[in-house]
Amino acid sequence: MGLLDGKVAVITGAGAGIGRADALLFAKEGAKVVVNDLGGARDGSGDASSRPAEEVVEEIKASGGDATANFDNVAEAEGAASIIKTAIDRYGKLDILVNNAGILRDKTLLKMTDDMFDLVVKVHLRGTFLCTRAACAHLRERNESGRIITTTSVAGLMGNFGQANYSAAKAGIYGLTRTVSMEMKKYKVTVNALAPIAHTRLTSDLPMMQAMPNAKDLLAPEHIAPATLFLASDLAADITGQVLAVEGPRMYLFRMSQTDPVMPKGDGGWTAQEIRERWAEISGK
Ligand code: NAI
Repeated sequence: MGLLDGKVAVITGAGAGIGRADALLFAKEGAKVVVNDLGGARDGSGDASSRPAEEVVEEIKASGGDATANFDNVAEAEGAASIIKTAIDRYGKLDILVNNAGILRDKTLLKMTDDMFDLVVKVHLRGTFLCTRAACAHLRERNESGRIITTTSVAGLMGNFGQANYSAAKAGIYGLTRTVSMEMKKYKVTVNALAPIAHTRLTSDLPMMQAMPNAKDLLAPEHIAPATLFLASDLAADITGQVLAVEGPRMYLFRMSQTDPVMPKGDGGWTAQEIRERWAEISGK
């Protein structure tokens, strides 16, 4: 018995890295998997290629699983609709969507062009919005159960030098996840985010990865896949609106925190001077 027996899953950007590890594990656990990947370069440039998605499908089939390749772009409305339609046409339904596709175009703010900002936000945030909306239209009709998993990042939740575009997109995905989790609750659909750290094409040249001698093993994408599987399975039917961080063997939740509310001393409301004087109190220190 697999944890995903009888389930149909779409995983975007599943031709490599974390998405590939998710796809292999999902298939092993009995899911029929649509392996989506555009097959472009790490920065979203260059020609698309069907090879990454096809190779993962071949790997799944060779181990006795069932998978179908799709090469559409998550960031185009027609592409997103076609990704979800592939699952419904091929397998009759969709139960699980993992929004994983992503690119990077890092530069500090003053060196960042409009195009660098627009493309990164388009692939991550608009891509997640388009695929999630297409999947939720189907899941609402079925009104049985459904799983949406999005991919945010420590960069989006905490900030990261040189990634204003990526951080903005990933913080947007956090807001999208929270809101859609509320809206889809009545249709028995859970919506949760992962915040992974893994050694992949996106991250292998980062100083943090280079400084860690065994990063390739310690932070292998295979460490993330069990968390994706958990959120996609019936084991997590009561969990929604959460952000699960996975960093090698370490796992924790991210939560937006709020300090205790503070009132002004006089009747006339806050003044800028009083805010300065009581900053330690307001900031919870
Ligand atoms: P990866 O580069 O190994 O895989 C991403 C895949 O997405 C690639 O195969 C690429 O062809 C595909 N893709 C890119 N644009 C696409 C599009 N428009 N439509 C369809 N497919 C597209 O990267 P990795 O590291 O596996 O990243 C997966 C997700 O995890 C991304 O959303 C990334 O931002 C996120 N993430 C990764 C972290 C890490 O440490 N590796 C840290 C935080 C977040």
